[in-house]
Amino acid sequence: MRKKIVVANWKMNNTQDEAIHLVTAIISKINNLTLKEVEVVIAPSYLYIKDVIELTKGNLNITVAAQNCSEHLKGAYTGEVSSIMLHSIGVKYVIVGHSERRAYQNENNLLLKQKIDLILSNHLLPIYCCGESLEERNSDEHFSVVENQLNEALFHLPMELMKKLVIAYEPVWAIGTGVTATVNQTQEMHQFIRNVISKKYNSSIADSISVLYGGSCNSTNASELFACEDVDGGLVGGVSLAANDFVKIVESFID
Ligand code: 13P
Repeated sequence: MRKKIVVANWKMNNTQDEAIHLVTAIISKINNLTLKEVEVVIAPSYLYIKDVIELTKGNLNITVAAQNCSEHLKGAYTGEVSSIMLHSIGVKYVIVGHSERRAYQNENNLLLKQKIDLILSNHLLPIYCCGESLEERNSDEHFSVVENQLNEALFHLPMELMKKLVIAYEPVWAIGTGVTATVNQTQEMHQFIRNVISKKYNSSIADSISVLYGGSCNSTNASELFACEDVDGGLVGGVSLAANDFVKIVESFID
């Protein structure tokens, strides 16, 4: 059975006090739930990762992700943070290939491939984001764009490493816009992603990888999106900054 995962991507938000307050509120609400198979992942700014790790210590349902890492292992890269550093403080996941970084930091699939290799070799797990722009969807290129993003950044990996990935489908036009992909669009793309992985590797690998949806996910639409056969959770931006609404999204998995 695939792992259900809900990730809070706080992006560049919160002061330290706000971050501590938010994670404390999320923890107390999560502690009241009976979460058997759902993992809640918090992705704060680098600055607050240690605070969040301390506060969530001992909570088996909550783990921590970084929003990025360097494509280099160590050395003279002023301002960068390496996967080895993240692992040393207890981070579990790293979000890679978010469309905001592709757009504003010019990250391309080949650079992301380097990051993925370092993340995996330093015992962290990548949450690899893919997804098309509105223009690409309108010109019917969405499947080929996503296939290319998977192919160029991931498909050099041997099977045993590929298995460790989490994939997040985030259509760029749905991020922060209030426009969510429909249930049909979401299921269709998630199934496509699984089929592409199955063709390259095999169906048991494809069936074992959690594929999350991201893009204007909220407490109202999460349950129908998460009910799709090939959707294993969400990568949540804006709504993850409000403990109540975020935990309601997590609750969408509980019958
Ligand atoms: P929103 O939930 O704000 O649309 O952001 C989605 C996202 O980019 C998560 O990584």
